[in-house]
Amino acid sequence: MAVRHLGEFVVIVYLTLVTSGSSYAEQLPNVVFILADDYGFNDVGYHGRSQGSAILTPNLDRLAGEGVKLENYYVQPICSPTRSQLMSGRYQIHTGLQHGVIRHAQPNCLPVDEVTLPQKLKENGYTTNMVGKWHIGFYLDACTPTERGFDSFFGFLIGAEDHYTRMLSCEAYNANDGSTKTLSGHDLHANKTPVFDYEGQYSTHLFTNKTVDVIERHDKTKPLFIYLAYQAVHAPLQVPDSYMDPYKNIADKTRRTYAGMVSCMDEGIGNVTQALKDAGLYDNTIIIFSTDNGGHIDRGGNNWPLRGSKGSMWEGGIHGVGFVHSPLLPDAVKGTVNHELMHVSDWLPTIVAGIAGGALNGTKPLDGYNVWSSISGTASSPRTELLHNIDPKKKRPENEKFDTSMRAALRVGDWKIKTGADYDVTVFNEWMPPPESGLDTIYPTEKPNQKVWLFNITADPLEQTDLAEKYPGVVDELVHKLEEYYKGSVPMRYPDEDLEADPALHGGSWGPWK
Ligand SMILES: *[C@@H]1O[C@H](CO)[C@@H](O)[C@H](O)[C@H]1NC(C)=O
Ligand SMILES: *[C@@H]1O[C@H](CO)[C@@H](O)[C@H](O)[C@H]1NC(C)=O
Ligand SMILES: *[C@@H]1O[C@H](CO)[C@@H](O)[C@H](O)[C@H]1NC(C)=O
Ligand SMILES: *[C@@H]1O[C@H](CO)[C@@H](O)[C@H](O)[C@H]1NC(C)=O
Repeated sequence: MAVRHLGEFVVIVYLTLVTSGSSYAEQLPNVVFILADDYGFNDVGYHGRSQGSAILTPNLDRLAGEGVKLENYYVQPICSPTRSQLMSGRYQIHTGLQHGVIRHAQPNCLPVDEVTLPQKLKENGYTTNMVGKWHIGFYLDACTPTERGFDSFFGFLIGAEDHYTRMLSCEAYNANDGSTKTLSGHDLHANKTPVFDYEGQYSTHLFTNKTVDVIERHDKTKPLFIYLAYQAVHAPLQVPDSYMDPYKNIADKTRRTYAGMVSCMDEGIGNVTQALKDAGLYDNTIIIFSTDNGGHIDRGGNNWPLRGSKGSMWEGGIHGVGFVHSPLLPDAVKGTVNHELMHVSDWLPTIVAGIAGGALNGTKPLDGYNVWSSISGTASSPRTELLHNIDPKKKRPENEKFDTSMRAALRVGDWKIKTGADYDVTVFNEWMPPPESGLDTIYPTEKPNQKVWLFNITADPLEQTDLAEKYPGVVDELVHKLEEYYKGSVPMRYPDEDLEADPALHGGSWGPWK
């Protein structure tokens, strides 16, 4: 049965373009991409309800329930990496952003010669708007959202700002003399201008409000793209009290506050959806929802029954919550659960080519695939392999070969290999149930100094049975693949921090300093 309804739709519209010019632009689907921050696998109602979680997400449940739930969907274990891949369609080994997040005072960003998702959508006639958290670098003006393809930007250049004051501090390290200095400043921008208004307005309300504004003001002769990157539900753990009311049964204060933050985000997404309806845009809109990484267990998030946390390449760090909702989806896929392998790097080609019917010319070689016919139809995913990452951690001599002490993970079909140790002390390796569930944490029984794990993720999505000793031939084959990926990687960009970034030198606000 042909269920590639939208694919055909795009072709028909394209033919109209050839004959009548501007009507093309009127009819391309609007795309609203919503990215949640540090949102755990078990923290959406439709996952958590049967897994001991008390969190309620009626809007997300409804949108996902009427759309397509992506249940074999992956993101990166932390923030900047996921965002860089969403914007570029390319793995971190190809952009130099293999290690960590981009720190506040690091002169670093997604390289400015990478072609971005909004740039490509602009070429196809879209107006492109970003609201929320950027966090892929800002040291040069050329790195900031309105220089990277967005017509408008309202939000944070970095991340983890106070949700009410937008103040943000960090300890910057001075590599010249080994000292550290606290840098502190305000981070809220309207396009390129620092804005100090809105003091006291909660970030989820503010970003929802600005998104509704974009929707209300949109010129309907053009297709609309919105990238709404909430700072919810990332720490600092703050939310207006009323959102915690439904969670009096959660004794753990951290978890209760986090649950309230989720409820507020869920309400905001409901408001955005309603605004699309009120503006008459909804019927021609595709809403895509994704987390940026797994839940941060210390900060209220939860990934049970998956193993591990944000920051790890266990499934709990990278197996993401994601779905697509749209009245444009064919009836045959509405309300279904999709098990095709997909990754955050797939959105650029999927949105540009699959949804907007555009060409992918001009980008560097993409690591993402156009998976639209696997979402809107029954096609198998073109993706059979997924490099989760190779993080060499430090600058290494050229020609150095990959070795299994490096932190890496690769998925090939059912197999997943994971190597090296997690560098980050806040990373969890265990299976942690939500605090309100009354269930017990399950601790792994690793061999000391274990460096290689092998799982059949299809059979064992919880990573309970390490098969590395049973299948040494498979391990060799996958290590060989990692060696090949490593050879093709570009040098890591992880420059020393630069104290010239100090907001005190720039009117009290974080912003481009070079
Ligand atoms: C957004 O906030 C402004 C005031 O800052 C207010 O005038 C406007 O009505 C709000 N819009 C929505 C959709 O809440
Ligand atoms: C959603 O809209 C309602 C009604 O305007 C408003 O009271 C609420 O604060 C909004 N929620 C968010 C998260 O913006
Ligand atoms: C893609 O091709 C179009 C039409 O030739 C051109 O205008 C556009 O600049 C190209 N995009 C890139 C990123 O090279
Ligand atoms: C992995 O497990 C699945 C489900 O049990 C099985 O069908 C598949 O053959 C296994 N894959 C490999 C490569 O052994």
